[in-house]
Amino acid sequence: SLALAGGAHAQAYPTKPVTMIVPFAAGGPTDIIARIVGDHMSKTLGQQVVIENVAGAGGTTGITRALTAAPDGYTIAMGHLGTFSAAPATYPGLKYDPINGMQPIGMAGGTPILIVGRKNLDAADLKAFVAAVKANPDKFNEAHAGLGSVSWTTCTLFKGILGTPKLNAVAYRGTGPALNDLVSGQIDFMCDQIVSVSEQVKAGTIKAYAIASAQRSPALPNVPTTTEAGLPEYQIEAWNGIAAPKGTPKEAVDRLVDALNKALNDENTKKRLLELGTVLPTAAERTPDGFAALIKRDAAKLDPALKAAPK
Ligand code: MLT
Repeated sequence: SLALAGGAHAQAYPTKPVTMIVPFAAGGPTDIIARIVGDHMSKTLGQQVVIENVAGAGGTTGITRALTAAPDGYTIAMGHLGTFSAAPATYPGLKYDPINGMQPIGMAGGTPILIVGRKNLDAADLKAFVAAVKANPDKFNEAHAGLGSVSWTTCTLFKGILGTPKLNAVAYRGTGPALNDLVSGQIDFMCDQIVSVSEQVKAGTIKAYAIASAQRSPALPNVPTTTEAGLPEYQIEAWNGIAAPKGTPKEAVDRLVDALNKALNDENTKKRLLELGTVLPTAAERTPDGFAALIKRDAAKLDPALKAAPK
């Protein structure tokens, strides 16, 4: 904004582009949500929101970079259930503290989790897939986006239920690149956020065994819930959301919260998010306090399983 008050005041935030760090490769769920939401936030802020992909270590490299940047509102991050709620229990030496050491902005979208397999897997449904994995765990390769990522976290819970915690797993710099290898059949399955896999499921290039939510997704109405598919114990809700370094000025925080909220209220942005299967956050979840409560609640929920998980 170009509002100047009598020349005596500094120009209002933001006066230059805002960098939003995406801690995974381009083309994955976090990148997709960041680009859709960031597009509209740029309009409200009057400055470009520039996406920077900084992948590695299950997203913790990029989040560390963002949260240790100058707290001036010009570096923010799009994190998620993994980087904000699962990573602290996964990395004992983690260099950031999502609960006491960052400034939450708000949740950007709920991202239901799907168990997806390569399209020529023999198993026709979730029951058959679970039986096959249990019978021959050595024959299945899982893909994930690194320790502490959403795919790793949610598949850790899945494998815990199956009693096959040590399946072969391949780590990628994001589930975008993992999805390419799932489509080409180089890996067998993964647990991924709906937004990056929904188009491939619709196109039939991969199989979706179930969605780990209480309800089916309107974006993929033919995919059964885990309860319908015979594995009701497996229920997990993932999400993405924005945070800034602790100490970011209130003026900047307020503008970012407002820009996120306006993006999520915009008809076109909503349509793009909903088509991919994103669940729109509630009014409370779009606020720093509501988002902080969600991060804390899910960290407490995941902590025991993640501390016990083989790494
Ligand atoms: C991504 O954007 O690649 C995913 O959010 C990674 C993950 O599974 O956490």
